Amino acid sequence: MNRYGVFGNPIEHSLSPVIHTLFAKQTGLDIQYDKVLAPINDFAHSAKSFIDQGAKGFNITVPFKIEAFNLATQLTLNAQTAGAVNTIKVNGSELIGENTDGTGLVNDLTKNLGIDLDNKTILVLGAGGATRGILLPLLKQAPKRLMIANRTTSKAEQLALDFSSYGKTCGFGLEKIKDTPVDVIINATSASLDGQMPTIANGVANDAICYDLMYGTQTPFMDWANANNAKMVVDGLGMLVEQAAAAFEFWTGKQPNTQEVIRSLRS
Ligand code: ATR
Repeated sequence: MNRYGVFGNPIEHSLSPVIHTLFAKQTGLDIQYDKVLAPINDFAHSAKSFIDQGAKGFNITVPFKIEAFNLATQLTLNAQTAGAVNTIKVNGSELIGENTDGTGLVNDLTKNLGIDLDNKTILVLGAGGATRGILLPLLKQAPKRLMIANRTTSKAEQLALDFSSYGKTCGFGLEKIKDTPVDVIINATSASLDGQMPTIANGVANDAICYDLMYGTQTPFMDWANANNAKMVVDGLGMLVEQAAAAFEFWTGKQPNTQEVIRSLRS
């Protein structure tokens, strides 16, 4: 039996063990997947002892994604551009760091929700770690334009510059968002955690697909999108399952049926 797990602090409420156990059942693999509560100041030690116990790989969630990036001995392009690692594969003495968050978002949008991002205008709210983690896979879909709007303008401008070689990007302050519709709005701010929605021009949501990276609750962003005539309003549960599926495939080479798992979690 191969052993996997997820590291975080806190970790109690993680859905990853349920998701990966369902994937293993679907694909006929015999795996053990644990939740590991790593001490805030001792992620590396905790991860090494898990590896010493024979683990084949693990996921990493808040607040250890940057420490996992530093622990990895090799990095995929997704991980390099994200500046963070949410999946490590143990390959002999090599620890291969990957970031499946952006792939998870894109697969949920394109495969589960049937949204074609090619030649679309995308507005991403926020310019923190969550945004950095999704930009490369979004840009690979060849949108017409990817705009990053942030409370702190300089961070949006910097991210747009960092990713400008992968597509047409621009960065500006939230107050510069125009009152005209875009195709897709992605909320990657952490404002929902505080029950907040930044004040932005309402017209931008008209007939747009509005996606919140958060899941498990109706967020203020989703309420705002519904109140402003969005075409579709979605939470991040599908992305959670899809980023797990990309990690599962990275470890095992098997592709699980995500829609079945999303349906089962929603019910
Ligand atoms: P994460 O890893 O979740 O991205 P982060 O790196 O701390 O966390 O980034 C949080 C993002 O949410 C930032 O873009 C932040 O804006 P600032 O760069 O101006 O701090 C944004 N954010 C958090 N609370 C917000 C609020 N109440 N209104 C608007 N933006 C907010």
